[in-house]
Amino acid sequence: MSKLAIHGGEKVKTTPFGTGKRFGSEELKELTEALEQQTLFYARGQKTKKFREKFAERYGVKHCVMTSSGTASLHAALGAVGVTVGDEVVTSPITDMGSVIGILYQNAVPVFADLKLDTYNLDPASLEACITDKTKAILVVHLAGNPCDMDAIMAIAQKHGIKVVEDCAQSYLSEYKGRLAGTIGDVGCFSLNDFKHISAGDGGMVITYDNELAARLALFTDKCYYRDGSGRNPTFLAPNYRISELQSAVAIAQLGKLDWICERRNEIGDRISEGIKDLPGIYIPKITDGGKSSYWFYMFRVDEEILGISRNDFAKVLSAEGIPAGAGYIPMCVYEYDIFKNKTAYAGGNCPFDCPKYGREIEYKKGLCPNAEEILATSIRLKCNEFFTDEDVEDIIKGIKKVSEYYSANKK
Ligand SMILES: Cc1ncc(COP(=O)(O)O)c(C=O)c1O
Repeated sequence: MSKLAIHGGEKVKTTPFGTGKRFGSEELKELTEALEQQTLFYARGQKTKKFREKFAERYGVKHCVMTSSGTASLHAALGAVGVTVGDEVVTSPITDMGSVIGILYQNAVPVFADLKLDTYNLDPASLEACITDKTKAILVVHLAGNPCDMDAIMAIAQKHGIKVVEDCAQSYLSEYKGRLAGTIGDVGCFSLNDFKHISAGDGGMVITYDNELAARLALFTDKCYYRDGSGRNPTFLAPNYRISELQSAVAIAQLGKLDWICERRNEIGDRISEGIKDLPGIYIPKITDGGKSSYWFYMFRVDEEILGISRNDFAKVLSAEGIPAGAGYIPMCVYEYDIFKNKTAYAGGNCPFDCPKYGREIEYKKGLCPNAEEILATSIRLKCNEFFTDEDVEDIIKGIKKVSEYYSANKK
């Protein structure tokens, strides 16, 4: 058995990881055209219109509304499906704050359901147990490219007459039983922030088949201004979540690259899983049955008992082998954040949690979602990048193999 790099042995990874340029002449051409329009306003220029058409076409839906961020997309989606003061929205405890910000801004209360230990996505049984007469919507998060178990989730939603908002910020072109994530619930939400599969710096999209929802989304993202010539004045509270023509121009060029980015990430992630699935003390991320992942990142779990090493040390040892590895994803479940624990969403009050329109008691504390906590405590996160070469992928596998075999064989 070869000596570990932390013990002075040779590193597994001796060559640099493959890299590439995300932005190039395609983006520049679109940007130049946008500037030549002499307007950067989404409703006057052609770039936002063009992107909306192309994205809706790629997803096979009727409507796409562009927004200023993934957070804005989710807030607008919640507003459009009718989430309001005193409602509850059930969601995942392992996600970005962007998934819950819109719930709080609608003065609704997030309720966190537990996850499946193997997929890191919502467990339908836990989700159903969270539903009350206050539940207006389910906000599903397709984490890291892996689609949620949508058949089970849609059945629950239909049974209880509640809406489904899909957070696809990490899951472009992810598939569930041949359908694209984002086209199964009432609305699908995307982010164009700089860390996502495609980027416009910032920005986002909401897609839907529903004409009425699309009209509300357009209003919700643009101060409730009716730009339909009807002459109506604003009828409800809506922020300015508009995208600019510059972002849409970049997004058009990025969309041209989306298919190969997601296809390549799918190959890379699935290959890593295949390569490490039988290693001692390693649990690969299970792809939901009937699912296809576009791996925004790659996260596996370790069994500290079998390995005789802590998760944090495993990540350090693997990094020393030249495979950068992070311990976990977010530092704790979202409900453990101070904003929830102390109910401090709004200064000088506990709104929306103690709102009379809500009229219930809710407590956020450690222990609420044991599987989600276990996932965060035992996972190792690796980057997944479409520019990785096949050699990089094999080196990642070799690195994990070297570390897991060393520790399981030398367990103290
Ligand atoms: C799952 C998820 N939802 C929502 C968001 C929010 O997107 P944005 O940063 O564009 O507001 C992110 C961003 O990291 C995310 O990963």
